[in-house]
Amino acid sequence: MIKKYKPSLSDPIGRWAAIGPYYAMFPLEFPFKVIEKYSKPGELVIDPFAGRASSIYAAATNERHGLGIEINPLGWVYAQTKLNPAAQHLVEYRLLEISKSISDYKTEAESLNEFYHWCFSDTVLTFLLSARENLRWKTSKTDRTLMGLLLIYLHGKYNQALSNQMRHAKSMSQQYSINWWKNRGMQPPEINPYDFMLSRIKWRYAKGTPKIKYSDVKLGDSTLIFEKQAKRFSEKISRHCSLLFTSPPYYGITHYHKDQWLRLWLLGGKETALWSSEKHKGRFDSKTEYRELLDNVFGTAETIMDKEATIYIRTDTRDFTYTTTRDLLKEHFPKWKMRTFQAPVSGKTQTGILGNRSSKPGEIDIVLTK
Ligand SMILES: C[S@@+](CC[C@H](N)C(=O)[O-])C[C@H]1O[C@@H](n2cnc3c(N)ncnc32)[C@H](O)[C@@H]1O
Repeated sequence: MIKKYKPSLSDPIGRWAAIGPYYAMFPLEFPFKVIEKYSKPGELVIDPFAGRASSIYAAATNERHGLGIEINPLGWVYAQTKLNPAAQHLVEYRLLEISKSISDYKTEAESLNEFYHWCFSDTVLTFLLSARENLRWKTSKTDRTLMGLLLIYLHGKYNQALSNQMRHAKSMSQQYSINWWKNRGMQPPEINPYDFMLSRIKWRYAKGTPKIKYSDVKLGDSTLIFEKQAKRFSEKISRHCSLLFTSPPYYGITHYHKDQWLRLWLLGGKETALWSSEKHKGRFDSKTEYRELLDNVFGTAETIMDKEATIYIRTDTRDFTYTTTRDLLKEHFPKWKMRTFQAPVSGKTQTGILGNRSSKPGEIDIVLTK
């Protein structure tokens, strides 16, 4: 086991842990600390709001089993890419195939709205359309790995990503971006997408791939699949969950689908960023629904976890999110001892990074132990 692991890009665990930019992700080092402190090798760690699977990955690379559930396909693709990457030569071969068919996508590229032509050069746009159409990321490990790696570089700093200048972890709105680029006279960078991605694939695999203890992340809604998946996984490894380690969505702030719309477009989503009306895919604006979500998930956790298990929740300090989370935890785990810690903020908070200017920013950790 790695003691006091500090993620570093010069070893395979750290290099793959950094996949990929995700709205409100844990800082890199934090989940490793929690896993080391609150679980033991061989135990099962569960995260029903897994995001890019920072918690599950820290468990799986530290000899623990991890099971995550995530409703957003972007988080799920990242999770699968780092927990279960395909062989490098297969990913490189697939990149070549995708690149060879880009001339088939000229007409489709022309029909896309103005945003896409400001964001990407013609070559990059046809390449992206080829990837969007041909990569079977839901069913093929190779295609998913390539898609996961491609999504990292879809947008970001000029010449470090495939797009015109844009934030790395958040997709900005179409009109805002167009105005921004126009005002600064910024044209999309002329990049050869094959060379660009090939060198980044080589870099990612250069230190090898991490050793993973059997773990998984499921794509779906925790209110619907958590209980079944947890029971199935527990049976498989003959262990109950010893650590529930998660960070639920924050009430009224985060919008995991809309704010990552461009990456979701590459996964087959809509051409324009639309507010999702599907349950648990929009912003969490209804107090009743927010409470029901946490009540449901903590209620399931109560039934599937070991009687001595630890619960570690990182959440928002703002009043409704915090009090709802704390009260529901007390209700579902009445025999546990509860402690809270102001999450150490080095630099910026998870949502602060993304422009959250609330008067009370910051996160709090709620820890329940027997
Ligand atoms: C605070 S983020 C977790 C970030 C994660 N700790 C990381 O490091 O990436 C909360 C996550 O819960 C997911 N989520 C919200 N409702 C869900 C549901 N009903 N089932 C599963 N996941 C859900 C969101 O899509 C989001 O990715």
